[in-house]
Amino acid sequence: MNAPEGEIIEVVDETLFPACLDVIRTAFGTVAAELGFTAQTAPTNPAFWTLDHLLRTRREGARLFALLASGAPVATVALRPARRQAVLDLTRLAVLPQHRHRGYGRALLDRAFGVARSAGAGTIAISIIAENRPLERWYLAYGFSSTGTRTFDHLPFTVEFMEKAVRADGPADSAAGQAPVRSRYCR
Ligand SMILES: CC(C)(COP(=O)(O)OP(=O)(O)OC[C@H]1O[C@@H](n2cnc3c(N)ncnc32)[C@H](O)[C@@H]1OP(=O)(O)O)[C@@H](O)C(=O)NCCC(=O)NCCS
Repeated sequence: MNAPEGEIIEVVDETLFPACLDVIRTAFGTVAAELGFTAQTAPTNPAFWTLDHLLRTRREGARLFALLASGAPVATVALRPARRQAVLDLTRLAVLPQHRHRGYGRALLDRAFGVARSAGAGTIAISIIAENRPLERWYLAYGFSSTGTRTFDHLPFTVEFMEKAVRADGPADSAAGQAPVRSRYCR
């Protein structure tokens, strides 16, 4: 499914990073508020990210995508190489609260799978907060499988690992063959 409005771009120019950071902090902030964790109890959560975090993930090889509405980012997703070969980690999937339930989250997942396919990846992996049951159900309905859970001393929630194979015969990214993503980049 494509975004019902707006378009998904790869954020290649860092001048758009502050706006993307705002989307990430706001979207993950609703989860932090619901589950009651704070910058003190979960300092690494994206709800409490700074620009430095975003820039560092880029330096580490992550690619950031944003869905634009009226020219401004309202949703994001990132893909970064995982430790395992041919696996990409999907992170920072975030939709501003006032733009949820319109298919943007699913459109970003679809785009991520197209990008992964064009990049030759075999699997997309995610780590979610296991206590967020609606989120887990949503990923299961999309075709992800749960591969296990783990608790960490520094995190006030359980981490659930999920993954889904990238079908080689699925739709390629819209600009596959020219560039890894469509040609209109953020400036
Ligand atoms: C998860 C998220 C990206 C979905 O974005 P979206 O644009 O609303 O997604 P879609 O419109 O494609 O699908 C909506 C579905 O998401 C599912 N969903 C996922 N998490 C949910 C939650 N916490 N509460 C309610 N529904 C949720 C529901 O099934 C919903 O279905 P509905 O519209 O029929 O109620 C968005 O809720 C979000 O930004 N959440 C906070 C950040 C987060 O948890 N990101 C995932 C990190 S792994």
